[in-house]
Amino acid sequence: MKNASLRRLISKRDIRRRVRELAEEITAHYQGRPVVVLGLMNGALFFLVDLLRLLPESVIVECRTVASYAGPSSTGKIHGLDMLHGNFAGKTVLIVDDILDTGLTLSEVRARLLDMGAKRVDVCVLCRKEGTRKVRVRAKWVGFDIKNEFVVGYGLDFDGVYRTRQEIFVLEPSSSTP
Ligand code: XMP
Repeated sequence: MKNASLRRLISKRDIRRRVRELAEEITAHYQGRPVVVLGLMNGALFFLVDLLRLLPESVIVECRTVASYAGPSSTGKIHGLDMLHGNFAGKTVLIVDDILDTGLTLSEVRARLLDMGAKRVDVCVLCRKEGTRKVRVRAKWVGFDIKNEFVVGYGLDFDGVYRTRQEIFVLEPSSSTP
């Protein structure tokens, strides 16, 4: 997107408050039972770290890189599923991802984990887009329900840029660049 501007959607304060609430709910839900927290890189990077700081020390952390986006739209093809191997058999896995959009990534990753023998697979996402699902995926924990707009910041990027911004912005076409 050559001429684009950023419109702030979610403030740093709201992110911090919501992450704290999610961590409390997740902690109360698992009640100290063993959980593998599987972060999907790179988009969930900041969300994962902030959440992990507030979860019990018993959680096991794994990260894998999966990607389906090129620019502002999904390619529909998910790369990195072959990197999902690991010791998930018999485990409860909590996938932590940035955005639930078409649902293709999370449904594929979830199916792979169950194929590998995971006992249970739950999903926690930072943002869930409205009206974009191609497949049904249930996210047990959702940070923010958002409209179908392209968002960046707090780990989310547009072609590698804006990831380090600490708030979440809508990237919208315009004549002036921020
Ligand atoms: P789905 O659910 O379509 O989403 O498989 C896969 C991945 O697409 C990315 N995604 C976005 N990334 N801004 C981003 O920076 C967005 O608005 C956006 N929408 C989808 C994201 O990595 C998600 O995991």
